[in-house]
Amino acid sequence: MRVEPAAAVVGHVVVPGDKSISHRAVLIGALGEGETQVRGFGRSGDTQATVDATRALGVEVEDVAADELVVHGVGLRGLRAGDVDCGNAGTLMRLLTGVLAGQEGEFTLTGDESLTPRPMERIAAPLRKMGAEVQTTDGHAPLVVRGSDTLHGIEFQPEVASAQVKSAVLLAGLNAHGPTTVVERIPTRDHTELMLEAAGARIRRGPTGISVEPAGTLRLGEVVVPGDFSSAAPLLVAAALVPGSDVTVHDLGVNPRRTGLLDVLGRMGTRVSVFDRRRVGGEPVASVAVQPGQLVATEIGADEVPGLVDELPLVALLASHARGETRISGARELRVKETDRIEAVTDGLQALGARIHSRDDGWTVTGVPTRLRGGRIEARGDHRIAMLGAVAGLSSREGVAIEGADTAAISFPGFYELLESVTRR
Ligand code: S3P
Repeated sequence: MRVEPAAAVVGHVVVPGDKSISHRAVLIGALGEGETQVRGFGRSGDTQATVDATRALGVEVEDVAADELVVHGVGLRGLRAGDVDCGNAGTLMRLLTGVLAGQEGEFTLTGDESLTPRPMERIAAPLRKMGAEVQTTDGHAPLVVRGSDTLHGIEFQPEVASAQVKSAVLLAGLNAHGPTTVVERIPTRDHTELMLEAAGARIRRGPTGISVEPAGTLRLGEVVVPGDFSSAAPLLVAAALVPGSDVTVHDLGVNPRRTGLLDVLGRMGTRVSVFDRRRVGGEPVASVAVQPGQLVATEIGADEVPGLVDELPLVALLASHARGETRISGARELRVKETDRIEAVTDGLQALGARIHSRDDGWTVTGVPTRLRGGRIEARGDHRIAMLGAVAGLSSREGVAIEGADTAAISFPGFYELLESVTRR
């Protein structure tokens, strides 16, 4: 796939439903009573893996439309023992392990060659503390979970700031005796807490921690999934990079734990406006417009990372065009995403002409306020790297060839078509 330089990126768009919320709607819907209607479902490689997984565990999931599902809940302990292929989806593997910790029977969870090397002790350890039997393969998938009906609540402080770890423990807490608390030094996305609250679970949010009480029953009813901020991010960054651009994304999820990119865009000199703010099913939603400005370097540290963790590759690209030196640190987690994103971004952007150097926990980028030359970038099986390559192509002088571009469909089928629809040449 080649993406040629753009003269401008202009238009009004919507993006598919949020991936994090779509996974959770299916999993929590499966644990609920009765039917859960999921509208605006963000169907992608990853979320389809969650639908297939819940079906493999005995849950009926009706496909009403590409973006609409009905999940027939089996109750908090109603999943049937079985084997699950989580594909590429780390969120599925980690959240589902938490769900299975309190189910009866033995479950085996496998994943593809990108998911298998990712760290799983971070969820296995707290779930064992709660009384579940969770076997990893040297800390990785395949996982074998033998659920327990005598889980007990714990107070747990994860070593890494991770919404997936937090969510796994809270979901296990639904079937535990006594309250379960996750202490977070740096807050991470709170979609699980918001959805559990909407389903009737008793959630307490303190200044540093979130507690869940054992639940009798859950009932979601309906989930309306807002547009995925992480899918909108490549379009917003393209608009920030290409002079003369003006892009507005409507019906977009703007949960403040997800929109760190907007703060960064603003302080780097981009014009950002957020309007038509409202709440849809407990989640904040709005329209977001971006127009380019003179980009200047910035500094990003650990406290900011969870709010833009999946957008950091795009921030590195922004920094390549920003006057001055940008330091991004506290982002070691990027080394254990779908690929080692610190090295993938460094190698990828260097090959396009950027002055970027990796450090253990981030990058140092020396920006030049001109277009990058362009060239070839390898996606390395990582959807976020493929989309980074496409945006880099638009803001380059000679275009960018993306090897393995198809992987974008893991989170955003139709990405290249949507990007092309707003591109002027
Ligand atoms: C996710 C949390 C993040 C993020 C991932 C989705 C979630 O991972 O990178 O794409 O849905 O909870 P961590 O919280 O483990 O960093």
